[in-house]
Amino acid sequence: MVLIATNVCDYKELAKQKLPRMVYDYYALGAEDQRTVRENKEAFSRIQFRPRILIDVSHIYMSTSVLGYNISMPIMVAPTALHKMAHPEGELASARAAASVGTIMTLSSCSSYSIEEINSTGPGTRFFQLSVYKDRNLVQQVIGRAEKAGYKAIVLTVDAPWLGRREADVKNRFTLPPNVVLKNFEGVDFGNIDKVTDSSFAAYYDACQVDPSLSWKDIKWLQTITSLPILMKGILTAEDTRIAIESGAAGIIVSNHGGRQLDHAPATISCLEEVVGEAKGRVPVFLDGGIRRGTDVFKALALGASGVFIGRPVLFALAVDGEAGVRKALQMLKDELEVAMALSGCASLKEITRGHVTTEGDRI
Ligand code: FNR
Repeated sequence: MVLIATNVCDYKELAKQKLPRMVYDYYALGAEDQRTVRENKEAFSRIQFRPRILIDVSHIYMSTSVLGYNISMPIMVAPTALHKMAHPEGELASARAAASVGTIMTLSSCSSYSIEEINSTGPGTRFFQLSVYKDRNLVQQVIGRAEKAGYKAIVLTVDAPWLGRREADVKNRFTLPPNVVLKNFEGVDFGNIDKVTDSSFAAYYDACQVDPSLSWKDIKWLQTITSLPILMKGILTAEDTRIAIESGAAGIIVSNHGGRQLDHAPATISCLEEVVGEAKGRVPVFLDGGIRRGTDVFKALALGASGVFIGRPVLFALAVDGEAGVRKALQMLKDELEVAMALSGCASLKEITRGHVTTEGDRI
């Protein structure tokens, strides 16, 4: 039994002991047979280091900038829904923790504290995750609110036109706990949300009317209603990378939604080089999915990522120890990355190269 967390996976164990099963499963599990959830993590362990020696690593520098905003490390917080189910302070605590370690927090549209409430936690660089609803006025409204509140980018989720089949939520009869609401949409008339009788999150999702007809032409429209840069989250192929860049994406997040959407989608780390190869340095490429160690962050950087986002570790650390837990989880990954850099002979992020790792493909 884990008594004290020394790495982010320990937070998962501790959170499992603490959270109601319905909440733990909602956070931890993914679609159908969990193949992609597992593969996201396991694919990292098939990549090995080619460490270099006798390089001065007395000081390690890992500060970087994302879309022109300086951050203390190349590790950021991914958008995840409903933090208040983990801890009463929910996203307020996560936002404070991210700001205190000097990194970016991405707020989910499906947050349990509002765009404005997060902003009132104080300074910090924040991105806003957008799902596009059938009601385009609503989309315009939330973007306007995010802009007004000082969020610096829109993270547009493009891998969830339909909700993946998350069977645990069905088995557990997932329903929002009484003290938790989708705070950005309080008072919004979704038309049918009050009539939702199915208790699954899928029913809420449908009721929120995420638009499954969203297509590339809508990206052009989005650019006409916001001056914020748009990061496209959920791209796994060179083909979509090319169109995303032609459509004006300011950056790409290689993501499979943490294995919660299409089961058997490949591990994100396996798709990274394809996307980076197509992007050709025109826009930054980021990655999320399965990052649990500083060595995973290093591997993503070596394969061309400009930075990574983490999802579940934030939720589990939040559940165990609130703001302090999230701060510690982020700090753990930072400390681990620092050691990985030192032991591979990289004193700064730009010294991390493709030559520092070997993948299965290299060994064929
Ligand atoms: C998510 N993710 C997600 N993504 C998004 O664009 N909008 C959202 O509201 C959510 N909500 C959400 C809830 C929960 C419980 C999880 C675990 C994930 C996906 C998230 O942004 C990210 O892609 C993955 O979580 C990354 O994988 P890891 O770090 O969790 O393995």
